[in-house]
Amino acid sequence: MIREKMSTGDQKLRILVIEDNPGDVFLLKEMLREQHDFSFSLESFNCLSEGLACLAEGQLDIILLDLSLPDSHGIETFRKLKALDIPMPVIILTGSHDLELPMKALQEGAQDYLIKGTVTSSLLARAITYSLERWSLLHKMHDFNMKLERKVEERTKELSHTLERMTKAMHGTVSAMSKMVEMRDPYTAGHQERVAQLARAIGEELKLSETRLSGLEIAGLLHDVGKINIPAEVLNKPGRLTEIEFQLIKSHSQAGFEILESVDFQWPVAEIVYQHHERLDGSGYPRGLKDGEILLESRILAVADTVEAVASHRPYRHALGMDKALNIVREGKGQLYDSEIVEICIKVIKGKEFSFS
Ligand SMILES: [Fe+2]
Ligand SMILES: [Fe+2]
Repeated sequence: MIREKMSTGDQKLRILVIEDNPGDVFLLKEMLREQHDFSFSLESFNCLSEGLACLAEGQLDIILLDLSLPDSHGIETFRKLKALDIPMPVIILTGSHDLELPMKALQEGAQDYLIKGTVTSSLLARAITYSLERWSLLHKMHDFNMKLERKVEERTKELSHTLERMTKAMHGTVSAMSKMVEMRDPYTAGHQERVAQLARAIGEELKLSETRLSGLEIAGLLHDVGKINIPAEVLNKPGRLTEIEFQLIKSHSQAGFEILESVDFQWPVAEIVYQHHERLDGSGYPRGLKDGEILLESRILAVADTVEAVASHRPYRHALGMDKALNIVREGKGQLYDSEIVEICIKVIKGKEFSFS
């Protein structure tokens, strides 16, 4: 092992040379000395293992590395050095004019290369200066990117917490609105909640996206919100409704639409609610829409709403039970209700995959 050490001036640049040719090391020192404004300390080793051991000993600024050493050869020499994750630039020294190897080292992270025999004092000083500048710039950019990534991560977390809070608040508001309507109509308490549950179960079978299912559920919870406009005595009337009272009840789809249209949901909740009493053959209300004119969510609600209403107790009659409810939608299949949705509804209820909680 040959270890040489020399230094000039104060504020020195600490250079490590790993080079097995003492003549080349001598030349490098001489050339650096010629640069009078260049204050440096230089340590040199003639084999890679000793050079690597020196790295662990102390602080250095730059490494000049010969790729052909007694204990390592070719690009592997650079790779072994790089594997240590050294925090400083490396300049490759090559005796050959074949640039394939130094170019490979550049691609893998070396800062520069010098061809021995063609190096001048100023070229050497320039290569060292530029390498150090580029290295420092790269590190500043790396630090900046890390800081930016951390900031983005923090902000994303904050945003997701805010979104979570807003979603909870929205669900709270929807639930409060839903209960407010049902407070005036005790016979249908929980009706919207149960319709929302069944609609969701049907939507899941239809493989709707989670986002769309959330919209469907909210529309289910609010589909009769327009009943807030209907006098409680009409809602709770045990006997037959007069034509005027019936027209009043029917106005709840439009009233629901008007209440909800100013709410900026990410789903067309107001329109879904508007259409929940439309029927495929155009016999529904308020606009007599047909088939494809009716939103899928409204067609789902139509089936879920009918099934829940028939199966449950009403002021003017006792609960008719689930079998009767399913028979009614089965009979209206294809004419009033979407056939596929009816089949799915029967499947989820009969298959015991669903029951009203
Ligand atoms: Fe309704
Ligand atoms: Fe309803």
